[in-house]
Amino acid sequence: MAEQFKIGLISGDGIGPEVMIEALKVLSAVSDMSGVKFEVVPFEVGAQHYLKTGEILGDDVLREIKTTDAILLGAVGDPQVPPGLLERELLLRLRFELDLYLNLRPIRLFAGVESPLRNTNDIDFIVCREGTEGLYAGKGSIQQGGTTDEVAIEESVNTYKGIERIIRYAFELASVRKQQLTLIHKTNVLTRAGGLWQRIFTQVGGQYPNVSMQYFHVDAAAMFFVTKPEIFDVVVTDNLFGDILTDLGAAITGGIGLAASGNINPERTTPSMFEPIHGSAPDIAGQQLADPTAAILSVKMMLEHLGLHQEASWVEQAVATDLLSRTMPRNTSAIGNAIVQGLKGRDSAY
Ligand code: IPM
Ligand code: MN
Repeated sequence: MAEQFKIGLISGDGIGPEVMIEALKVLSAVSDMSGVKFEVVPFEVGAQHYLKTGEILGDDVLREIKTTDAILLGAVGDPQVPPGLLERELLLRLRFELDLYLNLRPIRLFAGVESPLRNTNDIDFIVCREGTEGLYAGKGSIQQGGTTDEVAIEESVNTYKGIERIIRYAFELASVRKQQLTLIHKTNVLTRAGGLWQRIFTQVGGQYPNVSMQYFHVDAAAMFFVTKPEIFDVVVTDNLFGDILTDLGAAITGGIGLAASGNINPERTTPSMFEPIHGSAPDIAGQQLADPTAAILSVKMMLEHLGLHQEASWVEQAVATDLLSRTMPRNTSAIGNAIVQGLKGRDSAY
């Protein structure tokens, strides 16, 4: 029997729907070529659904989402909704509820893509951003709210188990790449959290004698992303540092229009969720101006996660070929169509 996967689709807000249309074209081409079936189940969650119903992510919807094999998400966030609401109650809630503790973000400069950096030796590394803890955990308080004595406190949650599992994953990944792992933190100031990250890094590292380890404070690391990105292979870091650094990583490799990511549960007890790093960009929504490449590369990451390695490499090659031949600006669907054509061209060649 042909393999079949149930894919949850959250197109979301802003440019989300238009980039997801292109991502689905690619998925359907992959299905035609491989015989693998993808049952795409759309979930109407996001700004429009919230404005209509007042509900962000109902328990029944969450339950249904949990029955999928993987989720594709476009983008969430809308100026008509108070800032942070959809982000926290939809995107972060999904990351937390599904225990997607590995936020995997490749930082790779494809041939033919212009980087704003002048010296772009090979940029090809991958960030393992912790996805369920840190400053994202939502702990904190406001005292004397609304007064000039207001104090806003955001607390960073760092658990031994939460750190250990992401660091272990990063060492495993480093073992099958270039045997080099970088921890990024701010141990000189955030001594409690930093001390724990550092200690676990050293402990787990003892079990991977073949992996060379380096550490940078996040400020220095930000500088090295720009001045010598070639010193990184696998990077492991906490939730907020990873958020900031991966936008920088996207910027040095052609922009967020190209940057994909996976919110992954490595134990596969829940569906993992794949999404472009970019946001909903309401200012350009509905105008076919968004680059769907990040969404398409997110499909590639999803295929890999589902064990469809050959199919993933087809998509990657079709994207790589398209990136090499980009000259004129094209609209969203023109880019999607070109990548699909590239895939199909490969199909007929075999
Ligand atoms: C990202 C985004 C999210 C994050 C926002 C939208 C909550 O910036 O996926 O990087 O901060 O994780
Ligand atoms: Mn971000």
